Amino acid sequence: MELKIAVLAGDGIGPEIVGEARKVLDAVAARYGHTFIYKEAPVGAAAIDATGDPYPASTHAVCEESDVVLFGAIGDPKYDNDPKAKVRPEQGLLRMRKSLGLFANLRPLAVFDSLAERSPLKTELVRGADFVCVRELTGGMYFGRPQGRSEDGNTAYDTCVYTREEIERILHLAFKLARSRRKQLTVVDKANVIATSRLWRQIAKEMGPQYPDVQLDFMFVDNAAMKIIQCPTAFDVIVTENLFGDILTDEASVISGSLGMLPSASVGAKVALFEPIHGSYPQAAGKNIANPMATILSGAMLLEHVGLAKEGKAVRDAVNRAIEQGIVTEDIANKGEKAYSTTAVGDFVAAQI
Ligand SMILES: NC(=O)c1ccc[n+]([C@@H]2O[C@H](COP(=O)([O-])OP(=O)(O)OC[C@H]3O[C@@H](n4cnc5c(N)ncnc54)[C@H](O)[C@@H]3O)[C@@H](O)[C@H]2O)c1
Repeated sequence: MELKIAVLAGDGIGPEIVGEARKVLDAVAARYGHTFIYKEAPVGAAAIDATGDPYPASTHAVCEESDVVLFGAIGDPKYDNDPKAKVRPEQGLLRMRKSLGLFANLRPLAVFDSLAERSPLKTELVRGADFVCVRELTGGMYFGRPQGRSEDGNTAYDTCVYTREEIERILHLAFKLARSRRKQLTVVDKANVIATSRLWRQIAKEMGPQYPDVQLDFMFVDNAAMKIIQCPTAFDVIVTENLFGDILTDEASVISGSLGMLPSASVGAKVALFEPIHGSYPQAAGKNIANPMATILSGAMLLEHVGLAKEGKAVRDAVNRAIEQGIVTEDIANKGEKAYSTTAVGDFVAAQI
């Protein structure tokens, strides 16, 4: 297969972790006879520095001309620490998702057996946890207008907006995903307080009969935040709106032991995008210590998305072997055991393909 991959490495550890994912994809191409053609483009703070725009038109063009996008992370302390900065890396991320029509972010959370003991939660609690969080990505408060401040600067406001069309398309996706798994769908909302949540709940109930084989239930987000930690094995597919999904998935990441382990796929109308769920981890940038597994596993999701299931599995198996043999970065290394560098982990995984 010939595959055009847009590579948006971004900021902080982005270039390092994306480099390792490419190394593994190259090993897949060599082993299985595929041709992966990469085209790099700037995004985030790197793009602001180069062009003044966190998501330049030229980067959008590269994405649109590609089959899939491999994304690292964006974000830089110089913008995080300047609340008055008019142009921000995150604006690029939001604009990219919106303009590529990436309305759903799929975040699988499966606990690797060999990592269960490294979870900050009790091993018996997390062992066997295996669920997917489907987060709505282009609506809700992150995009709702009006948003801003009053003239005197002492009042700020955001607006949460969802349309029927936005809710239906992501619920269809979540129902279908549940159908392909253990057939259990949990809609997480705050329907006791928020109007948009009530619309989500109403539409989910209307759609339920179209998926009679899927068990549909509802949970308030505050309760879900607790249950994910108390009983993560209770979930199969969770679907929720943008802000709730953003928070819950970071919370869920601790179950797996490290944010550096969790991949994601963003899908929608046009090209699909694959990225780790973590940010640019600026403290680790350039130190060759960041965990590349989340990005490598995003590569596995990329392969599976384009129909290369066998190749995706080869990547997952290679990651498993690295973990089992302790070839891991410091965030998941056992106390007192050697931690490997970002590049050493990437080399090992690539060599296993
Ligand atoms: N999708 C994105 O690009 C994205 C997502 C979240 C945050 N951000 C941005 O990233 C910057 C840093 O934000 P943050 O510190 O809140 O989040 P972060 O995800 O970058 O880091 C939080 C913590 O998670 C751990 N971590 C994250 N990635 C890791 C990895 N690969 N290996 C090992 N440990 C890892 C580290 O302990 C780190 O201190 C900010 O500018 C923020 O806006 C970007």
